[in-house]
Amino acid sequence: MYPIDLFDPRHYANVRKPVMQAESLPAWCYTSETFYAREVERIFKRTWTFVDRVDRIPEPGDYLVFDYVGISTIIVRGKDRKVRAFANTCRHRGSAVMAGEGNCKAMRCPYHSWTYGLDGSLIATPYMNLTENFDPGAYSLAPIRLEVWGGFVFINFDANAESLRSYLGDLVDNTEGYRFDDMVCARRLTYEIAANWKLFYENFAEQYHIPFIHKTSLYKQKRKINPPEKTDGNYVALYVEHPGSRMLLAGDTGFPPIKGLEGRIAKGTYYPNIHPSTVMGCCVDGMWFVRSDPLGPERTRLVVGTCFPRATLERRDFAKVAKRYYKRLDTTIPEDIKAAEDQQAGLRSPYYRPGRLSYLEQLVHSIDNWVLDRVLDRAA
Ligand code: FES
Ligand SMILES: [Fe+2]
Repeated sequence: MYPIDLFDPRHYANVRKPVMQAESLPAWCYTSETFYAREVERIFKRTWTFVDRVDRIPEPGDYLVFDYVGISTIIVRGKDRKVRAFANTCRHRGSAVMAGEGNCKAMRCPYHSWTYGLDGSLIATPYMNLTENFDPGAYSLAPIRLEVWGGFVFINFDANAESLRSYLGDLVDNTEGYRFDDMVCARRLTYEIAANWKLFYENFAEQYHIPFIHKTSLYKQKRKINPPEKTDGNYVALYVEHPGSRMLLAGDTGFPPIKGLEGRIAKGTYYPNIHPSTVMGCCVDGMWFVRSDPLGPERTRLVVGTCFPRATLERRDFAKVAKRYYKRLDTTIPEDIKAAEDQQAGLRSPYYRPGRLSYLEQLVHSIDNWVLDRVLDRAA
């Protein structure tokens, strides 16, 4: 069974070694409630979490409710067009104020109708006129930190966290050429999978599995595999050089490239894994993302979004051609999901022992060590 103290650095000595000497993580990192609870406290409640594209809530009053690691958050665009985040808990007696997504003039709690403006301030409180010393100004919805980069909305439950820009580091400059600000998310798809959040995230950072898991899909395309990118921020990245768009399957043609795209990124695909759990495939003609929300040690929700430049969405042939892009993702994402679920099943075996890594899995080692840096107790 598991050791009593899962967070003793001594259990991880072999994961901490240089990658070509290192081992993969112990099973409990993928299966234990205790390890998962520590990840929630030390990672998911403290780091920047990608929520969705800002173009999902384009108009004042547009909102969506985001449920993540047991915290419900309202993301809403104000009359001043600024996007804000608030804890979805009424300042009266705690009811959830909003549900789902839509457009509203103000946020009204369904229980006793306390109503909040789009900036979170309390603007209506029926039957509260006899309540002594009641100052509505002191009962605004609790704000949650929110920052936007390239149209990607991120929140952070830690009021003292560094800025998003500083968290992302040089990813911001490395992806400038894609003009993410000018993109729109054309389709979102959600999967719930029976695997720990790290398994899909690690999978995305290694090309080792491509000839096997994607034998009849992605492996049909030519590629030149480069060593992992040097990165300075809370992310890791791969760059793969190849002709055409990696958002399509071999033989399919698609949309023209992103306007003004030049240099190395015009000749291949850039794949950042943004810690803790968002992956992106940045291609010559658009991008796709997968946000993985941890639901428990052995369950994860994946949200797959496909984004294109605004001009591409306005093309008359958009719907017809976009189907080829969706076909690619709808083929390959389930291939990776199966790999993650098979791996989860095997990790449950009492016979599992950590294994060794290939040079194609260097980023798996980086990810695992990034996690350990945050969850382990300091050595005595
Ligand atoms: S709990 Fe929201 S108005 Fe009473
Ligand atoms: Fe894959």
